[in-house]
Amino acid sequence: MLYTSFLSGIALLPLLSSLASAETACNNSPSLCSKPYNNITHLGAHDSPFLRDQSTDFSESGNQYYNSTVQLDAGVRLLTAQVHKSNSTSGDAEWHLCHSSCSLLDAGTLESWLSSIKTWLDANKNDVVTVLLVNSDDASASDLGPSFKDSGISDYAYTPASSSTPPTTWPTLESLISNNTRLITFVASLTPDTAYPYLMDEFTFVFESAFENTSPSNFTNCQPNRPSSVENQPSEAIDSGRMFLMNHFLDSSELFGIETPNEDAANVTNAQTGTGSLGAQMEVCDKLYGSEPTFVLVDFFNVGPAISSVDKANGVTDAVGRMVVSTAKVEDSGNWGVRAGGRGSVGAVVVAMVVAVCFGGGL
Ligand SMILES: *[C@@H]1O[C@H](CO)[C@@H](O)[C@H](O)[C@H]1NC(C)=O
Ligand SMILES: *[C@@H]1O[C@H](CO)[C@@H](O)[C@H](O)[C@H]1NC(C)=O
Ligand SMILES: *[C@@H]1O[C@H](CO)[C@@H](O)[C@H](O)[C@H]1NC(C)=O
Ligand SMILES: *[C@@H]1O[C@H](CO)[C@@H](O)[C@H](O)[C@H]1NC(C)=O
Ligand SMILES: *[C@@H]1O[C@H](CO)[C@@H](O)[C@H](O)[C@H]1NC(C)=O
Ligand SMILES: *[C@@H]1O[C@H](CO)[C@@H](O)[C@H](O)[C@H]1NC(C)=O
Repeated sequence: MLYTSFLSGIALLPLLSSLASAETACNNSPSLCSKPYNNITHLGAHDSPFLRDQSTDFSESGNQYYNSTVQLDAGVRLLTAQVHKSNSTSGDAEWHLCHSSCSLLDAGTLESWLSSIKTWLDANKNDVVTVLLVNSDDASASDLGPSFKDSGISDYAYTPASSSTPPTTWPTLESLISNNTRLITFVASLTPDTAYPYLMDEFTFVFESAFENTSPSNFTNCQPNRPSSVENQPSEAIDSGRMFLMNHFLDSSELFGIETPNEDAANVTNAQTGTGSLGAQMEVCDKLYGSEPTFVLVDFFNVGPAISSVDKANGVTDAVGRMVVSTAKVEDSGNWGVRAGGRGSVGAVVVAMVVAVCFGGGL
């Protein structure tokens, strides 16, 4: 008895110590575990599932080069999307993630996207992720709730103490992690429903800066824009207890009023310094509000890389467990051969993309 337990104790030691060191990091850093959720700057991928890659034939409506799973692997902790009512073949309404309109870019069902995030949460037990849905077709909580239940992700959903008043302080990451309530969900906008108490109305808990930015000079402005009750009133916005979401993605002005993500400027937009950069706008906002934004939302998150400004705001220099993704723009270089289904691991795909970018169309 004693002998066997002694032996198994020895065998377990290395395993336990590696688990212990992995478990001390929350959202990629040990220094974040004891911080309240709202005292951390979370990097957000704007329109997370709307991809500009092979799967969409490099659609101009795409906001990101890499899918939501890769975004999370690389340190993104806020994922936003638009939810639209779509018609299934059976004629019943189906909730899809679409960019502006389902005929422009349809990224599939809400449920299937939530399943992919649930799978990621299953595998990453020390991470807290936020989902923000733009409610384009005025869905009710009972329209959206079933996708949360059926994907299984509702098992991780955090429920606020009140659905109508922001808390004075949010739980720390470690308490969200130990309670296994590691998914925070906002919908813009939504009437709260006790049947799905974890679906929070965004503008009850969050205020945002302007989001329709077409000039780098727009990013010198950090004034509250939504909800209208605090528009251009920074002290009212902060005193209301809402968290600040800084929109930092640039659109190109296009003919016919359709705006598309400005890919060419992304290396400037997502940089740490310079006119119109992420780092520069965060500084302006920090001065205005006396604290860093809780959320920053960017297109093409890997470019910059945007995570550098977020790490700086969080004082994080010891990030662990992040996938390294190329900071390059991803272009259709012809036959670089990484269509889904072909090439095994994410690592291989990322390397192939870097190679493709370096050698232009020559591969
Ligand atoms: C769904 O069908 C209705 C009625 O046919 C139509 O008006 C609507 O545009 C369709 N919606 C989508 C997203 O295709
Ligand atoms: C964790 O769960 C306990 C028991 O349900 C609850 O009292 C506590 O408020 C929860 N903490 C957080 C941070 O949600
Ligand atoms: C952005 O800047 C342009 C050019 O100065 C201006 O026309 C536009 O109104 C600004 N947009 C916002 C949201 O401030
Ligand atoms: C951004 O990329 C362009 C080429 O697309 C390059 O000319 C410029 O120097 C880059 N700027 C920064 C800040 O990296
Ligand atoms: C967190 O708190 C520190 C210390 O008060 C502050 O400097 C920082 O800006 C805060 N960050 C956020 C996101 O609130
Ligand atoms: C996301 O992209 C990676 C790399 O291309 C791929 O391996 C993975 O299957 C994708 N995940 C989903 C849920 O599509």
